[in-house]
Amino acid sequence: MSKNINPLWWQNGIIYQIYPRSYQDSNNDGLGDLQGIISRLEYLHWLGINAIWLSPIYPSPMKDFGYDISNYTDIDPVFGTMADFDLLLSAVHRMGMKLILDFVPNHTSDQHPWFLASKSSKESPKREWYIWHDPAPEGGPPNNWLSVFGGSGWEWDEHTGQYYYHGFLKEQPDLNWRNPEVQENMFNILRFWLDKGVDGFRVDVMWHMIKDAQFRDNPINPGYRAEMPTYDRLLPVYSTDQPEVLDIVFKMRRVLDEYPERVMIGEIYLPIQRLMIYYGDKNNGAHLPFNFLLLSVPWEPIKIAAAIAEYEGALPPGGSPNWVMGNHDRPRISSRIGSGQTKVAAMLLLTLRGIPTLYYGDEIGMRDVPIPFDEVQDPQGLNMPDKNLSRDPCRTPMQWNAEMNAGFSESKPWLRIDKNYTLNNVDRQKADHYSLLNLYRKLIRLRTEEPALNIGRYIQVCADDQAISYIREIEGSSRFLVVLNLSHRPYYFKTTQKTLSGRIEISTLPEMEGMITQGTIELDGDQGVVMRLDQ
Ligand code: GLC
Repeated sequence: MSKNINPLWWQNGIIYQIYPRSYQDSNNDGLGDLQGIISRLEYLHWLGINAIWLSPIYPSPMKDFGYDISNYTDIDPVFGTMADFDLLLSAVHRMGMKLILDFVPNHTSDQHPWFLASKSSKESPKREWYIWHDPAPEGGPPNNWLSVFGGSGWEWDEHTGQYYYHGFLKEQPDLNWRNPEVQENMFNILRFWLDKGVDGFRVDVMWHMIKDAQFRDNPINPGYRAEMPTYDRLLPVYSTDQPEVLDIVFKMRRVLDEYPERVMIGEIYLPIQRLMIYYGDKNNGAHLPFNFLLLSVPWEPIKIAAAIAEYEGALPPGGSPNWVMGNHDRPRISSRIGSGQTKVAAMLLLTLRGIPTLYYGDEIGMRDVPIPFDEVQDPQGLNMPDKNLSRDPCRTPMQWNAEMNAGFSESKPWLRIDKNYTLNNVDRQKADHYSLLNLYRKLIRLRTEEPALNIGRYIQVCADDQAISYIREIEGSSRFLVVLNLSHRPYYFKTTQKTLSGRIEISTLPEMEGMITQGTIELDGDQGVVMRLDQ
């Protein structure tokens, strides 16, 4: 039997990420808001997800669309009011779901009163709250560290004659997490939201929070190529993932542990072995360091099987696995692997061992939308215009129906909507038995009902040039076989094992559901099945 027979909500949940600006507009200003989300909770409940993660909703000058926060304990008027938030939280809870907020501890907005005070004078009591440094002896920035969004990570402040560090935009100065006052103030912000009853946090760029105390230069990246982001010219070995960051992570976790059943998710883009360290040596770190393997692994069965094996093998004892297939920073899955494979991808995400995080719109196969250059909003796209790095294409408004602006808003949306919205939208897919949306819903339901698919063991069966297959099981309870054809050609899953006979529970082709199979399973191109095995 599985050891973990009574998992906590987040250990067997399904998380759904909402980019609030693009979900649902309620006041027709072309921007999504909290009341809009409230009006769509029924849909999320119908879909069957357990937890909603909201990208930032706090007051912000919106230089990085909310990831530049000027007040951590309020709501930006674009999204509504604190009263709207309270309504949202209680409605989510009433429906038996959970609400996870985005916490952005690495940096504030340059308009945050803390930074305004910090830059007012070298003697300001808030000076040490940020990372200030004298110029290099020969003049210029203190070292070679780069900003993720292009250019140097250092910005000169004429008034006080020092540079400040910003890993992202210059309007996003990095906080100095070595300062205990910063720690205490940030932890109290967590408590503010936890006291309100939020169920956890997704912690933004967790691995960036502490920098080398000696500010050593980062080494050159020998693998850099011109089409890569300029940030990749160097290897950020001194500006990110410092050993001391774990102390901060552990302290943050202790704050969450003051409250029952809250979850801490870490946004961490690191190689798997480094990622695992963020679980903590006694599972006292992030509950879920985000696993981003599926965002970049080549869509080939052998490589995917290897990625799963690597992840499964690297997990520390007691560490809860998780899988992510899309977010507001990365190309949408449909555009990355092609629309023909979106059903197979859904089946993979929802049958792997690990909490799945869905990105809004992926459940209807929304694509990256080309945004003309004069409409680009994302600073990453604007700062490196020749590299096709804008994140706008994956942030376009949710396609609800075939009405004006896809039912998102009655005014011009902040980003253009995919031209295909009259054909591809929630309403249409809801009514279509064959739709991706209905497949997501079925997979979510089965995963929720069947502990084997949720927390059961993962056993690889086979991976070849076309397909991947695996079993999910709880010994003595139920067993499922998943076969996914990642190619467009027919695939023949052959086995002589008697134990692999059973009944197809879910298929990307609903006609096959209910079929009893034994021996060979013939699959169409781009097809996947989840089969309940006979005992
Ligand atoms: C994270 C967010 C991204 C943001 C960056 C800076 O990577 O996901 O959207 O731009 O942090 O806060």
